[in-house]
Amino acid sequence: MQSDVELAKRVELESLVKKSRVPAQLDYIQSATGLILGLFMWGHMLFVSSILISKDAMYFVTKMMEGEYVLGEAHPEIVTVTAIFIFIVFITHALIAIRKFPGSYKQFRVFREHAVRFKHSDTNLWFIQVITGFTMFFLGSIHLFVIMVNSDNIGPYASADRMVSGWMWPLYLLLLVAVEFHGSIGLYRLCVKWGWFEGKDAKASRKNLKKIKWAITIFFMGLGLATLAAYMKIGYEHKDKAGERYVPTYISAKVAS
Ligand code: HEM
Repeated sequence: MQSDVELAKRVELESLVKKSRVPAQLDYIQSATGLILGLFMWGHMLFVSSILISKDAMYFVTKMMEGEYVLGEAHPEIVTVTAIFIFIVFITHALIAIRKFPGSYKQFRVFREHAVRFKHSDTNLWFIQVITGFTMFFLGSIHLFVIMVNSDNIGPYASADRMVSGWMWPLYLLLLVAVEFHGSIGLYRLCVKWGWFEGKDAKASRKNLKKIKWAITIFFMGLGLATLAAYMKIGYEHKDKAGERYVPTYISAKVAS
């Protein structure tokens, strides 16, 4: 028979084991939500940059996202639901990350001194994650809300007008810089943390991963800036007719003939 003292000790031990599992579970959720968001952003940037091909290409992508080619007519609610899902993943990721932020100026100074003394580039990357993550929390939330309530107002002219006439371009510019650093550093840190692509020589693979990370940042930053410039050019040219919706050439040509 177990004595009361032994039983109390066992209960205490079990609760300690349970508690010690929580940080690992939170880490796991943070990695999973980060992976979803990182991959989503690659797809998002490729779709949004269709404007670099032509207005018709961006119109096609918009209608594809609204399910028009499968369901026979456009359903912007699909975009709203996707944006709500991404918003939930985004907020979950951010809330779990907050626990690792320096909680006071004193903690921040200790961290900076530590980073300067050790000159370890991964420690600096972590600091960039904190700054860009904090920025994205505000700017990303605004963007997601705007998209959620304007899911029926996306397209070559609608998006370009929002950027120029709706003055969203400064937000997009800051968000783009934050996203491109945060996303590629995040995916790099995921690979290092979980040992993905480690191979036989962990040091060499970490070096390679870092090169790939930089290549990805430069590629998506370049693509994002070119995309932003393209929307802004259309937005300026369309300023006097802001609000007018784009009619694709295959429809306007049919109407004209
Ligand atoms: C389902 C969710 C999302 C949808 C449907 C969506 C859609 C769009 C659309 C249509 C644009 C073009 C501008 C406009 O129409 O206002 C845009 C631009 C942009 N979005 Fe999103 N977005 C989503 C989520 C996100 C998230 C989570 C982020 C980052 C936190 C983000 C970052 C950006 C950036 C930086 C741009 C500017 C891109 C550039 O100019 O190169 N988006 N998004």
